[in-house]
Amino acid sequence: MDFSESPEHRQMREMVRDFARREVAPGAAQRDQQEHFDRTLFERMAALGLTGIPWSEKYGGAGADFTSYIIAMEELAKVDASLSVVLGAHVSLCSWPIDRFGTDEQKERFLTPLAEGRALGAFALTEPGAGSDAAHLQTRAQRQGDTYLLNGQKTFITNGGAADTYVVFATVDPSKGAHGVTAFVVEKGMPGFSFGKEIHKMGIRSSTTQELLFENVEVPIANRLGQEGEGFKIAMATLDGGRNGIAAQALGIAEGALEAAIAYAKQREQFGRPIADFQAIQFKLADMATAIEASRLLTYHAVWMEDHGGGHGMASSMAKLFASDTAMQVATQAVQIFGGYGYTVEYPVERFMRDAKITQIYEGTNEIQRIVISRALLK
Ligand code: CAA
Repeated sequence: MDFSESPEHRQMREMVRDFARREVAPGAAQRDQQEHFDRTLFERMAALGLTGIPWSEKYGGAGADFTSYIIAMEELAKVDASLSVVLGAHVSLCSWPIDRFGTDEQKERFLTPLAEGRALGAFALTEPGAGSDAAHLQTRAQRQGDTYLLNGQKTFITNGGAADTYVVFATVDPSKGAHGVTAFVVEKGMPGFSFGKEIHKMGIRSSTTQELLFENVEVPIANRLGQEGEGFKIAMATLDGGRNGIAAQALGIAEGALEAAIAYAKQREQFGRPIADFQAIQFKLADMATAIEASRLLTYHAVWMEDHGGGHGMASSMAKLFASDTAMQVATQAVQIFGGYGYTVEYPVERFMRDAKITQIYEGTNEIQRIVISRALLK
């Protein structure tokens, strides 16, 4: 068993860490407070090759593996979880199903601009009445010759409004449940496709979240991913990989919070000495670091499986479940170590705590992860 990082992975980590520290961290607090999505950071990620890490060079990608993508997610989340979810929704939720299920022609049309960062991607599954119960979505796709007419509404769409390319799930026959769901690529600017309410959030505030509205949108058959009725499986398979991305994001948040807590504990003096001298603080740090190490092993094992043939659904649910709970616990303890200062916007730990919460909810709540894990155990 080899736990060492390959030279390529180390190089990726150093490159993203350097970018994150120099260009992402300085404005992270302000962007969060102003709920400002900075597209120039996405363009910078494109220039560094991060927007297409795992895709073939033929389609504008970097030709690297999913582990490299997970490293990027982790390093970004250490300083700014919002930017990491922008990348996550773009790479593992929007681009992945196009790479996996798209035809060559669809890859050329959609994947290449996504990989090169000329287009920003989003994934539209959730609806006001279909969150955890994703199979019961109501957005309709009615076939009319060589087009489908899309009608309905999506909500909680990460990168919504800002994105150019949307992988959208709609049903061709609601009576068929999961077997009616079909996947389409919908582009910003298509007549009838518009944006609804912007959603203001507790955390990840410098990523956009918006409703999507479809009113008689004519989507050509050439934009359908896979066959009619295959959409639910496409969505679930996409989330199998996406959840690794959220696990990595949660891992990064926890690491960022621990790093801040250690630095603060060493310099903050009370009762005549640094608070790091007190066992109450030392034991908290030890528990935080231990949970982070376990999250790291689960996350990198799940993505190792993805890179080595798949079958990673249960492993990615476990990683996402454990790493997100860890992020929440570690960020909360970091705020506790900072005391009153931790509760203020002067320090990053309150942002880490707010950002950590969503990792327990999106890409399947942790209750849904337990369903996925227990079904895999019992099948
Ligand atoms: N891969 C391939 N196929 C799969 C699959 C997978 N991982 N999981 C299920 N399927 C197949 C099943 O085999 C089944 O096929 P058959 O009927 O042909 O046998 C079909 O899909 C239906 O599966 P289930 O019966 O298991 O479906 P279900 O209705 O019981 O739902 C669920 C299962 C796990 C609860 C699922 O609905 C789910 O994951 N819900 C959570 C949705 C979610 O994660 N949403 C996140 C939105 S995106 C987001 O959050 C992004 C963001 O903001 C960043």
